Amino acid sequence: MVLSPSAPAAIAPSHTENRVTPTKVQWRGLIEEYRSFLPVSDATPIVTLREGNTPLIPTPSLAQQIGRGVKVYVKYDGLNPTGSFKDRGMTLAISKAKEAGDKAVICASTGNTSASASAYARRAGINAYVIVPDGYVALGKLAQALLYGAEVIAIDGNFDDCLKIVRQMSDEYPVTLVNSLNPYRLQGQKTGAFEIVDDLGEAPDWLCIPVGNAGNITAYWMGFCEYQQQGYSNRLPHMMGFQAAGAAPIIQGSPVKSPETVATAIRVGNPASWEKAIAAQEASQGQFNPVTDDEILEAYRLLASHEGVFCEPASAASVAGLLKVKDQVPDNATVVCVLTGHGLKDPDAAIKHSHNAIHTGVGSDLAEVAKVMGF
Ligand code: F0G
Repeated sequence: MVLSPSAPAAIAPSHTENRVTPTKVQWRGLIEEYRSFLPVSDATPIVTLREGNTPLIPTPSLAQQIGRGVKVYVKYDGLNPTGSFKDRGMTLAISKAKEAGDKAVICASTGNTSASASAYARRAGINAYVIVPDGYVALGKLAQALLYGAEVIAIDGNFDDCLKIVRQMSDEYPVTLVNSLNPYRLQGQKTGAFEIVDDLGEAPDWLCIPVGNAGNITAYWMGFCEYQQQGYSNRLPHMMGFQAAGAAPIIQGSPVKSPETVATAIRVGNPASWEKAIAAQEASQGQFNPVTDDEILEAYRLLASHEGVFCEPASAASVAGLLKVKDQVPDNATVVCVLTGHGLKDPDAAIKHSHNAIHTGVGSDLAEVAKVMGF
């Protein structure tokens, strides 16, 4: 604190010294903030890390690429407590599991669901079992699940194989499934749509979103519809779903046996919410489009280097998709791209696919460093 020379210290206490009440109301987590829209009661023990309330960030470079008065924002859901949108669904799924007295939960995951399930389950004192495809989970996500204290089981198979096992496991053993087949997951995730409308004062014209197991597009659509029905918005967005070209079953119209993409989070060949996602696209007069790995990586770099927003590759699929179909965006439209996961989830991808390099072999010497800097 800077005191003016005339202000005696005795009557100018430091900024926090005498504070007895908080000066702002903290966000209470999305269950408390949107309680009337969610299936909870006074008997539900709320398991929260104060998830939600993520920023809607204007992205002027993207808007400029499209032109014609189009406004573009990213909904940076990578800023949730475990670094992905999964926390929105997990706070509710784990609260309901705790309410039911469940002792263990299980999920299949490309990484983010496992990180989120582990964090919320452990916070609730519930055991977490996560089944992942061996060798196809980004480093940060694995690190999270391990440190949160889950049992991590890596199988020789892809996400779809993992999902098959956990569905059967939860049928036959006393473990609760917390993949998005658990209806509480989508109920929680729909709050992303509420926040966008709260921030914009209206629904956007387009909602661009990456699609893997197809739960999130389903949840967002549910959220926009409920909010409109309650009078919080006058219109509904067109739902624009984007799949990685090597893992695009919904676009191809049939399951993909061996999905492949650099965006490991959406390396899914047989999405669980396939029909619901198509229903959302049709009802909203939206579209599904594929984006190649090159397009995803281009958008990934652009978001970081032009907008200062670091997301993981799968999240960049929403922006890659927008740029791919940008000529179809109506003049003066408002577009929101959902950035589902934080860039730090996958540091290997960032280092491998950055076009930037570290200057190495530089001596500990001012002149040498200045020379490298171009002076
Ligand atoms: N973006 C990220 C970062 C994801 O982790 C996922 C899904 C998606 C997008 C797609 O969302 O499945 O609802 O269509 N990740 C799941 C997981 C499959 O196991 O973490 P979706």
